[in-house]
Amino acid sequence: MLIAEGISKSYKSGRRKILDSLEISIDEGEFIAVMGESGSGKSTLLAVLAGILDPDEGQVLFEGKDLYKLSDEELSDIHKRRIGYVPQSNFFLKNYTILENIVEPFLAGSSEERLAYEEKAKLHLEKLGIGDLADRFPHELSGGELKRAAIARALAIRPSILLCDEATSALDVTVQQEILSLLQTLRRQQGEEFSILFICHDIALVQQFCDRVLVMYQGRIVEEGIPDNVIQNPSHSYTKRLIDSIL
Ligand SMILES: Nc1ncnc2c1ncn2[C@@H]1O[C@H](COP(=O)(O)OP(=O)(O)O)[C@@H](O)[C@H]1O
Ligand SMILES: [Mg+2]
Repeated sequence: MLIAEGISKSYKSGRRKILDSLEISIDEGEFIAVMGESGSGKSTLLAVLAGILDPDEGQVLFEGKDLYKLSDEELSDIHKRRIGYVPQSNFFLKNYTILENIVEPFLAGSSEERLAYEEKAKLHLEKLGIGDLADRFPHELSGGELKRAAIARALAIRPSILLCDEATSALDVTVQQEILSLLQTLRRQQGEEFSILFICHDIALVQQFCDRVLVMYQGRIVEEGIPDNVIQNPSHSYTKRLIDSIL
């Protein structure tokens, strides 16, 4: 469903490859965790997969279409309907309420479309346990609440894939666990299970929720597999160190 081939990316300021000939393939309905130390390129990878950061090399095929060859209109349509992206830092506009922020991309549409979308947005805020915060401004929410709001926004479009970066202010494990179980439940409720790519550092949560784990190191995926297998039997020395450092 989402396939990235030969992805390399450097930022202009530095020449180092942040992503280095990276390959990834995500199936329909898969729940995947991405692990890796800070600076290994996880956020960069998610932005490339989301279609918002053009790679230097390689292509990202979403449902068979190369994201970086689409017109602005086609890409914006995918962002409004198919790919839900939760970036690392809060990107809510500060002068809009949470609900207004979520509905904002749909303001250009007809009023019917907007109202229908507003209902969906409210429903998702409720499902994420923050229905009562819809009319608050972003600075009136805690880090964990903002993360939920960002996930509600990403899910309100009924995406076929959710790309979820970690929160900048490290959320405690309980909040992460709550969010992951909510996502699991929502996926089951929606019938068609959407895929999830989630950055997570907690091994127990990865084992509990994910079908597959990818371990990133210096811009490459150095190891991947079923969480239990990777954790019990890591093949790459970096994964061993990562697991030792966490356990
Ligand atoms: N906009 C940017 N400009 C220049 N360098 C960046 C930018 N964003 C990230 N980097 C660098 O790219 C590397 C990988 O960053 P990132 O993808 O955020 O890693 P992670 O999410 O795994 O911590 C880091 O060394 C970071 O400093
Ligand atoms: Mg990051």
